[in-house]
Parts: sequence; structure tokens; C-alpha cells
Amino acid sequence: MKKNIEDLQTDFSNEIGKVKTAQEFEAIRIKYLSKKGLIPELYASMSQIDPKDRPAYGKAVNELRKIVEENIEALKLKFAKKRSEEILDISLPGRRPFIGRKHPLTQILDEVKRFFLRLGFSIADGPDVETDYYNFTALNFPENHPARAMQDTLFITDKILLRTHTSPVQIRTMQEQPPPIRIIAPGRVYRRDTPDASHSPFFHQVEGLFVDKGVSFADLRAIIQEFAKYLFGKDIHVRFRPSFFPFTEPSMEYDFNCIFCRGKGCKVCKYTGWVEISGAGMVHPNVFKAVNYDPAVYTGYAFGMGIDRIAMIRYNIDDIRLFFENDMRFLHQF
Ligand code: DAH
Repeated sequence: MKKNIEDLQTDFSNEIGKVKTAQEFEAIRIKYLSKKGLIPELYASMSQIDPKDRPAYGKAVNELRKIVEENIEALKLKFAKKRSEEILDISLPGRRPFIGRKHPLTQILDEVKRFFLRLGFSIADGPDVETDYYNFTALNFPENHPARAMQDTLFITDKILLRTHTSPVQIRTMQEQPPPIRIIAPGRVYRRDTPDASHSPFFHQVEGLFVDKGVSFADLRAIIQEFAKYLFGKDIHVRFRPSFFPFTEPSMEYDFNCIFCRGKGCKVCKYTGWVEISGAGMVHPNVFKAVNYDPAVYTGYAFGMGIDRIAMIRYNIDDIRLFFENDMRFLHQF
């Protein structure tokens, strides 16, 4: 029996010396120390031992058990430590923190602001929910004039509506301060439109207004031309076409050279070489009268521009709805 115990100890030493993984370690622990393991088995076979040999046998088994337990205990620490190292695997690549960025419309708006602020314009603001008076009447849209229908909007009551353009900020600013005025007014505007690739029931404009003594159409032309160059490059030209807006006289619409073909003609500009930006003109005397400015003393120019339109041209985006869907796959490209 003594021999058996010695063999077992040799086996154990060999096996434990070869252990490399937590699983191997666990297998040995079970083999020797579990309820049905080899060590308990040695105790269980005590009854088969000659009674006079039992004390020596018991002593030898106790010693073996001690050796086995101590070895297992020592390795337990090692393998327990191994495991926590596995959990905290410092070689794993890190998780990239999510970094947001500015919406493409905000990026364009920032550029527009930078240009005009540098030229001494300041930024004015007005409410999205407007009165009929500011949105139409004070801007020289006569009651029942068809020009109102061109800007069909979402009415809250007969006299309260979602503004169809940023032009009401012209009136609000001029009511609040005497000339000279030099402002841009960025903001959201609303129209009763069914959404499609080029229509959205809301979009973004920047209004511009410059009022002083002796302001001329040449000043308007110059600033729009400079703006086009600033935004799209030195070789971009501006074209003015006669148009009608109730709050300007004369009124025009202005186009920039297509930035893709630089005016040669391509799919984006429908082979015209030009892309339409918005309207502009000299402030109508009736608008000055509405805010108690003397049209005999002051003149001014005004212009609008569509931020969504400019962003679509700049980034070659063919569907305005993409701006408002908040799809990260889209927004991350800018
Ligand atoms: N408010 C016009 C629109 O939304 C755009 C516009 C045209 C603004 C001429 C102006 C202007 O300031 O002078 O269609």
C-alpha cells in the first residue's frame, strides 16, 4: 500500500508539473481532490488495510493529501490570476470614441456667416411663427395678391402662419433701429409642399439687407459676385435675371456658374452652365414706408439665398430630404 501512495505522489508531481492551462489544472484538481477523486479513495480503502498498518497508512495518506492540496492551492492563485489577465486583455484594440460633426447645412451656414461678418454685417433673428403682417403685408404683398399664393404656407390662424421666407426679419430689424442697416438673417422657412427630391415643407434661407444713403445696385452686384467667388472659387460668375418680388424694385433672380462644369454645361446644371441661387433687388419704397424710413433719403438692397440649395450644389447631393433624415451614414460624409 505504501508503494501505491508513493506512485500516486510521483504521478501527481509529473502531472502538475505539466499543467499549462486553467482547464488542465481544473482536471487534475478534480482527479485528485473531488469527492470521488484519488485522495478520498485512499481514505475509503482504509478498511482493507491490516489494522496494525493503519496508523502508518493514515499518516502517509495525510502527507500525500497535504502535498496535493498545497500544490493545488499554489497553482490556483496562478491560474486565477491568469484568468483576470484574460478578462483585462490590454492587447485588444481600443473602441473608437464616437465623435460628432457639424451638419452639412450648419457647415455652409458657418461659411456664409464668416463671409458677411467679415464685411461688417451682423446677424439678425426673427420668429418661425410669424404674423401675416410681417410675412406679407409689410413686405408690400397686397391683400389677395397672387404673389402670396406663390408662397403657400401652413396657417395657424387667419393671421398667424409659419414664415415662408426670412424676409420678415428685414421689417423686424428696421422697426427696431434706424439706418444704416447691414444684416444677414439665417433661419428656417416653411412652405406647403409635398416632399420630394427637390421639395421639403421646410428649408433654410439667409436673408441679407443693406440700407444706407446712396446704396446702389452696383453694391448688390459686387457683394453677390464676391460671395460666389468666396464660396465656390475665383472663376465663378454671377448672372442676374429680371424677376418680380413685391418687396424689391427692380427685382431679380441670380444664378452662379455651375461649380461642376464651371459654366461649360453638364448634367447638374442641365447643360445651361448656370445654377439658380435665389432672388435679390433694391428695397421697394413701400417697404421703407412700412417701417417709417424715408425712401427719398435712403436706398438699400436685399437678397435671399437658399442654404439647402447651396449645400446640394456644393456637395453634389441630389435629394433635399437627405438633410433631414439624420442618417449617420449620410451625415458622416461631410
Ligand atoms: N424671400 C424670397 C423668397 O423666399 C427671396 C428673396 C428675393 C429675398 C428677393 C430677398 C429679395 O431679400 O430681395 O423667394
